Amino acid sequence: VNRVLRVSPPPAGLRGVIATPGDKSIGHRAILFGALAAGQTVVTGFPGGADVRASLGAIQALGAVADWQGTTVTITGRGLALGRAGETAIDCANSGTTMRLVAGICAGHPGRVTLDGDGSLRRRPMERVSAPLRTMGALITTTDGRPPMVVQGGALRAFDGTLAVASAQVKSAILLAGLRASGTTRVREPLLSRDHTERLLDRMGVPVRTVDGAVCLDGGHTPQGLPVPLPGDVSSAAFLVVAGLLVPGSAVQLPAVGLNPTRIGALTVLRRMGGGIDENDVEDLAGEPRGTLRAHSSALQATTISADEVPATIDELPILAVAAALARGETRLTGAAELRVKESDRLAAIEQLRVLGVAIETTADGFVIEGSGGRPLQAGRIVSHGDHRIAMAFAVAGLVTPGGVVIEGADCVDVSYPKFFEQLAALGAIVESA
Ligand code: S3P
Repeated sequence: VNRVLRVSPPPAGLRGVIATPGDKSIGHRAILFGALAAGQTVVTGFPGGADVRASLGAIQALGAVADWQGTTVTITGRGLALGRAGETAIDCANSGTTMRLVAGICAGHPGRVTLDGDGSLRRRPMERVSAPLRTMGALITTTDGRPPMVVQGGALRAFDGTLAVASAQVKSAILLAGLRASGTTRVREPLLSRDHTERLLDRMGVPVRTVDGAVCLDGGHTPQGLPVPLPGDVSSAAFLVVAGLLVPGSAVQLPAVGLNPTRIGALTVLRRMGGGIDENDVEDLAGEPRGTLRAHSSALQATTISADEVPATIDELPILAVAAALARGETRLTGAAELRVKESDRLAAIEQLRVLGVAIETTADGFVIEGSGGRPLQAGRIVSHGDHRIAMAFAVAGLVTPGGVVIEGADCVDVSYPKFFEQLAALGAIVESA
């Protein structure tokens, strides 16, 4: 499918209360760790997008049983040994998290697992995860460093090392392999990436501790199944937060959004830009903080996003670029070369802001955007490059573009946020076929 949609400004402000889909990052982990657990794991608030469906397919291929009803998924775990040895082929679709975490799970699994994905995933680097898993004892081949990759599991020894780039996916793969390794696995990263794996494994009864900046776990612990109530995904919420800030006369309320400190860099950046974002009813539930976000129309000022802020803002940088495009002054981003190897080359994709009349220059690892100071953008047509976050970022740009923004390949929002356009329309936006 290549759905072409035009998004244009609402007649009045965006107003309403929206239930953000469940957190994709924690959702993957709940499913994958549930498969390795003893007993049942019940995931509620399951977002149902293509990415988490890929993880569900992966654990079924590996022998776990999953039952999906509405937004609840019940997984009957198989324990660390999983169900099946022999040959298994797993289609990870668009999901880098599925591929990299499953590689870690299969590294200690006596069998041969081939991991493949769609055209976008086939362009993404897999040596970053293969190399450390090889040092633990797994036999892994990639295709010129990319998928398809073949993982031949075996007896593992613990890992002790520092990652070249901060990556929660690579860290998680190593920790999962560490569950089946002999000895204590220790992973350090240059900057702290999201810590959902550490939090969830710990809740499942696997002691995870941080010692001198290294995340450590001992091999041999089997996770125990448990209920995992997912918070709303702050990475999805970020699109509606920015929409609420940019469209005059708006007040958008988003209950029970995940507020894990390693994920909320975008809220910090937007507040620094002058964004009116309130947090209420904050509570810690099942090891992950969550609360109600409320965003109201605000005049934004430019800012500088530094390299140390990148891990906690990584998936929100496309939508922060749109916020910067409407801010007063010059916004700069550095230290984000990782954007070049996401679902698309996101720096190249963001450069399409130029089509809307925005002054943007990109560098190897960032961008410089001269904002319009609140002036509406010029109508234009962009392509999503099959990247959900690019499609959603430009949809939000359409809300401040009187002639609208036409998005080619809008269907890819299904990866993380199947109801995105529906919810945007419910808030008052004009969304139509083009
Ligand atoms: C994710 C980690 C990040 C992020 C991705 C999800 C995760 O990737 O960009 O969308 O769930 O672990 P990296 O680990 O490659 O930084």
